[in-house]
Amino acid sequence: MLSYQHSYHAGNFADVHKHLILSRLLEALQRKDKPFCYFETHAGRGRYNLTEAEAQKTAEYRQGIGRLWEQAQIPDLARPYLAAIQELNPHAPLRYYPGSPAVAHRWLRDQDRMQLMELHPQEVQPLRELFRGDRRVGVHQRDGFEGVLALTPPPEKRGLVLIDPSYELKEDYRQLPQWVDKLFQRWSSAVCAIWYPLLPQGRHQLLLRGLEQSGLRKILVAELEVSAPGETGMYGSGMAVVNAPWQLDQELEQLMPWLAAELGQDAQARQRVTWLVPE
Ligand SMILES: C[S@@+](CC[C@H](N)C(=O)[O-])C[C@H]1O[C@@H](n2cnc3c(N)ncnc32)[C@H](O)[C@@H]1O
Repeated sequence: MLSYQHSYHAGNFADVHKHLILSRLLEALQRKDKPFCYFETHAGRGRYNLTEAEAQKTAEYRQGIGRLWEQAQIPDLARPYLAAIQELNPHAPLRYYPGSPAVAHRWLRDQDRMQLMELHPQEVQPLRELFRGDRRVGVHQRDGFEGVLALTPPPEKRGLVLIDPSYELKEDYRQLPQWVDKLFQRWSSAVCAIWYPLLPQGRHQLLLRGLEQSGLRKILVAELEVSAPGETGMYGSGMAVVNAPWQLDQELEQLMPWLAAELGQDAQARQRVTWLVPE
């Protein structure tokens, strides 16, 4: 069992970047009445208490959601994401941060479903608790890569897969494009969002090269660098969206400069939105 625990990092700049893009993908799915199914390979516990010891120890959320929380000037396109956090904290002080399952849950309508994979017993139990009694949500304690392939394609045909591993296994960078290719062979109309860290070793290039060479189309990449790369530590956050929905590129071109300005930690902060593979 791997040792990564997201409670130490919840609400950090990478979560904000990832969940903001996730909110735009969910908005796009909601434009049609037809049902959709949302999948996650690595769901986490679904909701994080930022006042607990783990989050307080690193205080990473202060450089992430903490910076946006008291912002008066929020772009319209970021409002639905911020609303998801406000709904968890109706009485102002920032206490709870939604994991990606709780962000996605906000967009589920009666006709939609969500299938979440989480392997760690300590994380899967609170995740089950969070959605207990909601017939639209399935929580599965199994390997995320194996589980999502086994459950796709869904009867709904429309849907989104979020892939958010901890990348403790270095092979993940190399193996992920092959897995995404398998997913699209089974379910060609899926939208698939892959989060990756920007680290000084630059291993994410392997992932991007693999995606580029996979034959898959419409791959949009949005990267946020909050500082210049140091010797160690994550200096940025990346998201690659395969089969990106219409206008996502334009939305992210509006949102990403704002995000880089709000979350930047030094003068090197920057962002880029590019088509890794166009239509
Ligand atoms: C980065 S965290 C997920 C954060 C979550 N997606 C969010 O944005 O709120 C990665 C999660 O994957 C879980 N995990 C690790 N290996 C796994 C595997 N093989 N299959 C499913 N989950 C796994 C970890 O326990 C951890 O909770």
